[in-house]
Amino acid sequence: MCGIIGYNGYQDPKGILLDGLKRLEYRGYDSAGIAILEGDKTEVFRAEGRIQQLETKLTRHQFKGHLGIGHTRWATHGAPTENNAHPHQAGPITLVHNGIIENYLGHKLILEKSHVSFSSDTDTEVLAHLFDRELKSGLSLKDSTLKILPLLKGSYAFAVINENEPGTLVGVSNGAPLIVGIGENETFLASDVQAILHRTNRVIYLEEGQIAVCKSNHVELFSQEGESLKANIKTLHWTADQMEKAGYRHYMLKEIHEQSQAIANTISGCIDPNSGTIQIPQIEKIKDTLKSISRISIVACGTARHAGLVGKYYLERFAKISTDVDFGSEFRYRQPVLDKNSLTILISQSGETADTLAALRESKSQGVSTLSICNVRESSLARESDLVLYTNAGPEIGVASTKAFTTQLTMLYMLAVQLGEIRGIISNESAKELTTDLMHLPHLVDNSLRLEGKIEEIAQTLQDTPFFFYMGRDNLYPIALEGALKLKEISYAHAEGYPAGELKHGPIALIDRQAAVIVLAPLNNSPKSKISLKGFEDNILFEKILSNLQQVKARGGQVITIGTEGDGLFPKESKYFIGLPKTSWALNPILSTIPLQVLAYHIASLRGTDVDKPRNLAKSVTVE
Ligand code: G6P
Repeated sequence: MCGIIGYNGYQDPKGILLDGLKRLEYRGYDSAGIAILEGDKTEVFRAEGRIQQLETKLTRHQFKGHLGIGHTRWATHGAPTENNAHPHQAGPITLVHNGIIENYLGHKLILEKSHVSFSSDTDTEVLAHLFDRELKSGLSLKDSTLKILPLLKGSYAFAVINENEPGTLVGVSNGAPLIVGIGENETFLASDVQAILHRTNRVIYLEEGQIAVCKSNHVELFSQEGESLKANIKTLHWTADQMEKAGYRHYMLKEIHEQSQAIANTISGCIDPNSGTIQIPQIEKIKDTLKSISRISIVACGTARHAGLVGKYYLERFAKISTDVDFGSEFRYRQPVLDKNSLTILISQSGETADTLAALRESKSQGVSTLSICNVRESSLARESDLVLYTNAGPEIGVASTKAFTTQLTMLYMLAVQLGEIRGIISNESAKELTTDLMHLPHLVDNSLRLEGKIEEIAQTLQDTPFFFYMGRDNLYPIALEGALKLKEISYAHAEGYPAGELKHGPIALIDRQAAVIVLAPLNNSPKSKISLKGFEDNILFEKILSNLQQVKARGGQVITIGTEGDGLFPKESKYFIGLPKTSWALNPILSTIPLQVLAYHIASLRGTDVDKPRNLAKSVTVE
């Protein structure tokens, strides 16, 4: 949570900091601020709300200094006011911070006893005063950092400057990400590469507890014990172009349209041309270990957890491995009983979600193998997991996750099919058929996106609907959850997702003429080969969902069905019908997601919300 940017070089930092903050705004947008060292004085500017407000404040300001830090905030400690906005100062120290200093109150009490007064409610200001105290005892910025770090509890990253050391920018990463960028006679600090990728593609991902001392022409790394460390400089794959909107009104819409390519990129390299079956190379290497796995725990948050819920259907149906799905925020606190033969799968777009990382660490502490499905290379999750499967969706900027979700589903599908074959549950013939189905998927996704015009028209009629209800059965139930989440995240309309059969046990009480009910009822392509797995080969639940639809209609709800083109039944029973191309049982969750994303996008857009940065949310939640 929160975005940090830092600059030390030869240019005017104002533009670099503001531009970096705009690119990090997805991490939080309650307030923003920058600080620039001008001679021996640090100028601080802060504003409540979006970066735009800060930019307006800075319009007439020119700077001569070349060192600065900036911050965009997602409030945790203290209301989202200007007073609580970063940077925070104490004496010559100016600091920006992401994460939480859990024991800040204890330090605050001690500092107050020595007559330090505070002007904000934040944990960050306490940290600034701890620095000021150490500097007063004659220590340098780096040595103060070494002295202070053992005093702090929590997960955090920060960037700090000192008026008395005008050529030095110090950054620390401890449970929250911080990246060092290395340019020509300039260095950067950022919470995420996308803030600096257009300036340099040479970066260092700081590891747990590392300290970076950034001068304009070189960077030194230290451990918390003060030991000098060798920097591992990486050259990044993502181009700055991939970060732009490419003519779309919003990143979210661009990312929705990138899905066929993102899925194709995720599949690429995972199909063996000789056997014609899915073979994820990393899985192939450890296939003997995977044969003996007795149980899988999937842990994730938000949209990634919905992918995990679909993954459970895949893993249980294809590989016959009993699978549980947990919320990242619940997993470690329920004291999970994990046996050594089990595997924990963590799913995360960013690889930095605090609750998901904590689940990874809990599993490792119990000696359980960990596998991550992640989109961001070198993220904390990717670095700490025993095995990583990358989704290759490219950067996802819109706060509401779209292409990350469908590529996570794609990866889970491939994993389950491969495990099924390794464990002898599905035949080679079936594996080939499932692989062929998958290879058609990018094309089907593209075809589904052609329905956007029709969906936009439906959105126009639904834009003022106060309550949306999404229902699906079997592996489409998680898609009902995801459809509802997408809509509420960006349009602020009330939306709920339910297993359709559960409707009669309570939620049906909510249905009246005002409610819009989205029914997920695609037909499954019957497989040509004999994949003898119950419920896989036909549409056994099709009639059941039709009767769930009737229950809703009888109470006046307006029904919108996401079905299959050519279906003769549902169009007659629905107010609106969206007919998708026909695909298999396992791929229908991926395909059905597309119209739900498009519908949520257009309803939100018509309602005039900030689609890419919806209120109160952040893309990557690095606090508990
Ligand atoms: C935040 C985002 C969600 C996302 C969740 C998990 O809450 O707003 O869109 O699904 O975090 O993020 P991750 O990066 O772990 O997939």
